[in-house]
Amino acid sequence: FWRNLEPQAPDALLAIIRHYREDSRPGKIDLGVGIYRDEQGRTPVMAAAKAAEGLLWQTQPTKAYLGAEGDVVYTALLAQLALGESLARSDRLVGVQTPGGTGALRLGAELLARASPGATVWTSEPTWPNHGPIFTQAGLRMRTHRYYRAGDREVDVHGMLADLAHARPGDVILLQASCHNPTGATLGPADWRQIAGLCERKGLTPFLDLAYQGLGDGLEEDAAATRLLLNELPDALVAYSCDKNFGLYRDRVGALWVQSESSERSDAVYSNMLALARSLWSMPPDHGAAVVRTVLEADDLRAKWSAELDTMRGRINALREALGASHPALAPLARQRGMFALLPLAPAQIAALRAERGVYMAGNGRINLCGLTLATVPDLLDALRHYLPE
Ligand code: LMR
Repeated sequence: FWRNLEPQAPDALLAIIRHYREDSRPGKIDLGVGIYRDEQGRTPVMAAAKAAEGLLWQTQPTKAYLGAEGDVVYTALLAQLALGESLARSDRLVGVQTPGGTGALRLGAELLARASPGATVWTSEPTWPNHGPIFTQAGLRMRTHRYYRAGDREVDVHGMLADLAHARPGDVILLQASCHNPTGATLGPADWRQIAGLCERKGLTPFLDLAYQGLGDGLEEDAAATRLLLNELPDALVAYSCDKNFGLYRDRVGALWVQSESSERSDAVYSNMLALARSLWSMPPDHGAAVVRTVLEADDLRAKWSAELDTMRGRINALREALGASHPALAPLARQRGMFALLPLAPAQIAALRAERGVYMAGNGRINLCGLTLATVPDLLDALRHYLPE
């Protein structure tokens, strides 16, 4: 029965978790998969999330089914956080809880494929490696646009807009809303306005992937581009992940919002989202979303969470400053944002760093800065000293 199945290579990013775990060298450094780590190298459950879990344990009356939409209070509170009060109230916007950001992206992809099977989805080159499979598995065609200029390691806005000029009306642009994975290179407010203008002129629909709200410049700042595009354009999608900013990785907490040109259209969109969700996962897992709802509902927990997030962002940006000041080839890191940066390394150098120094990073030279502490920055610099260009 299974003879037509070709063996698949393990996911390269997730394989790093296992390889690192199996390495017994004491000085090994894990800069692989994107999880936050504190200055002690731990990924603790956030104190606000722990407190919310305690409350849930004491007070949650039932675990009976909710529905394909998940917890509507969670989705409404998260909409206020991500999109702001006025968009969250819009009758042109509908949202559902999803299993993580990946579930949101996949549900959005299925909805796009159902609404417009001929649409092409444009992504940056490079992007998160799972973006491609998520959209192509839903049957959509994908094309890439330039994003990153390897020379100065800034966003190639000119190249991006020139490539997107080839998009056809009805196409979709998948845009990372902040903290670009893998480059860390960030679009400025004027660039986002140009993208909004392009979408309007050409009839393109933006699909915002907002997976790191609060880990770049701040909760409001990291959501500004998403809000701008939703305010300027009739149609849009937003995939949200609580993995990193609530530290709920394995609980799989996310949401998908879809904006349409009228509330009547939104009714049809919402019914399709529910029908698709029902066939994909029936109902999203509740626990993590209940934790987020509990945190956002209670002023004290919300303040505690927000302060913890400030600390996380402060640590990431302090590491960016330290690395950026340490070597001319790393200077762009101080200007970039989020957990990731691309180091200018060849594949053989990346392999040698792993084999000889126990430094683990993705095969394209992406590092998760959170894998470092201020104490291990010199160790990384020592490992890199023969490899970085002057
Ligand atoms: C990453 O890019 O490392 C994270 O988004 C984790 C993942 O699922 O790939």
